[in-house]
Amino acid sequence: MQSPDSQPVKVLILYYSLSAQTSVLVHRLGAGLEAQGVHPVCERLQPIIPRKFPIGTVPATLAMMLATFLRMRIPIQPLPPSCWERYDLIVLAGPTWSYNPSGPVLSLLDRDGARLFGGQQVLPLISCRGYWRMHWLSLRWQLERCGGKVVNRMIFAHPSKEPWRTIGVFLKLAGRVPERSRWLGRYYPRYGHSREQQDEAFAFGAAIGQALKLGSSLVALSFGSGRSGQGGASGCTGP
Ligand SMILES: Cc1cc2nc3c(=O)[nH]c(=O)nc-3n(C[C@H](O)[C@H](O)[C@H](O)COP(=O)(O)O)c2cc1C
Repeated sequence: MQSPDSQPVKVLILYYSLSAQTSVLVHRLGAGLEAQGVHPVCERLQPIIPRKFPIGTVPATLAMMLATFLRMRIPIQPLPPSCWERYDLIVLAGPTWSYNPSGPVLSLLDRDGARLFGGQQVLPLISCRGYWRMHWLSLRWQLERCGGKVVNRMIFAHPSKEPWRTIGVFLKLAGRVPERSRWLGRYYPRYGHSREQQDEAFAFGAAIGQALKLGSSLVALSFGSGRSGQGGASGCTGP
């Protein structure tokens, strides 16, 4: 599929995911792009020391929350050569960690940000339990400082209600299975994003693919949530 200037339309989806939530969303987004004839190149940031999910214990989870609140970097492997090709758009995706971008994304911005994002259209995708605004503001600021053109945002928040969502995510990180608890499971049926949000990611991919093919602006696209309530950019709850 060609863009109006007759070059093939290319999208790089660069992401990090610890508990597979961002991963599922970006793969559905990629499928939506493909449905429009746009070929996505999907690359996961690889920490030099692999991180495991669940973290496993309450003290280790609290320690990670403190470290990530202090914006601890997690060093990553060099990017594969495919990341350095020409792209019409880079989607930068990852989870919120203690109101910040995740450690691997912070490392990417420090090391490769200017070269990768300078003069480039960038569309961040955030997967979070519900508190994404600080993450969004700092990520946009950092991308713009690297010379990136941040054209829009896609925000996906876990659809479970508070306070069960916060309790559920914490227990899950600490290695418990809250959704199977006889009592908590009534209020917290699942960890992470819903099937509707995955479908929404597919629809976003299709809309992006269509806009890129037509050469129209991604700024005007609406990534507000129709079905999943708290998942979309316009319908989100924040801190
Ligand atoms: C250390 C840590 C801190 C987190 N802090 C936040 C937070 O501040 N706000 C939020 O909404 N979600 C927070 N979360 C939840 C994740 O953003 C959420 O579970 C996300 O969907 C995980 O995506 P992933 O599976 O792609 O890693 C945190 C998760 C971890 C591991």
